[in-house]
Amino acid sequence: MRLDRLVSEGSALTRSQAAKAIRGGTVTVNGVPVCRPEQRVDENTDRICLGGKPVCYQRFHYYLMDKPLGLITASRDREAGTVLDLLPAEVKKQGVFPVGRLDKDTSGLLLLTDDGDFAHRVISPGSHVNKIYLAEVEGTLLPETVLRFREGIVLKDGTECLPAKLEILRERTCLVTVQEGKYHQVRRMLAAAGNPVVTLRRLQIGALRLADNSEPGTWRQLSEEEKAKVFL
Ligand code: URA
Repeated sequence: MRLDRLVSEGSALTRSQAAKAIRGGTVTVNGVPVCRPEQRVDENTDRICLGGKPVCYQRFHYYLMDKPLGLITASRDREAGTVLDLLPAEVKKQGVFPVGRLDKDTSGLLLLTDDGDFAHRVISPGSHVNKIYLAEVEGTLLPETVLRFREGIVLKDGTECLPAKLEILRERTCLVTVQEGKYHQVRRMLAAAGNPVVTLRRLQIGALRLADNSEPGTWRQLSEEEKAKVFL
């Protein structure tokens, strides 16, 4: 890849700032100062330094966010704020997008990445990645609803859902585990059972769980270990 692209993607610099830094002589490749932004480098083997510090180039980026209520899970929205508004410019420039969707009125665990294959593997029902939601509902949760979820509940419009797990924690509080992500899926499943959702929060994707003291609106990079947990 081009040296200016690698320096830009591995630092907070824009592409033109990176080119300027290279021309200014602050970038070395394997210890040798270089001044041509268009020089080709190998991101796997070449050691690139900017101002004496190694540039950590990553092919793909992975973030965990605790989505707050009120933001849309989209990359762009004309009227409402999106989850990307929480990220600084240097992360946005990586081209990250949300992995699947949480409704505006749902909070909790949301992954963001620029790795399309990873996103597809998380979302696709064929990957069997569990998504666990904590719901507060209206009415009383009934044991027979557990069975209906297990067999694959039919939504009010006739849509058949894949088998899902409902755990009743209290009269109006439950955990719902699904592997698919239809539009408003958990809300519609619980509404079909006569328990409209009051609040909904995603706690877990695969074996990756939000910390109990996680604060909505916070985000951070995902470690390699956490990334692997998504598929456990
Ligand atoms: N199901 C819903 O109904 N809403 C969400 O945000 C996620 C799953």
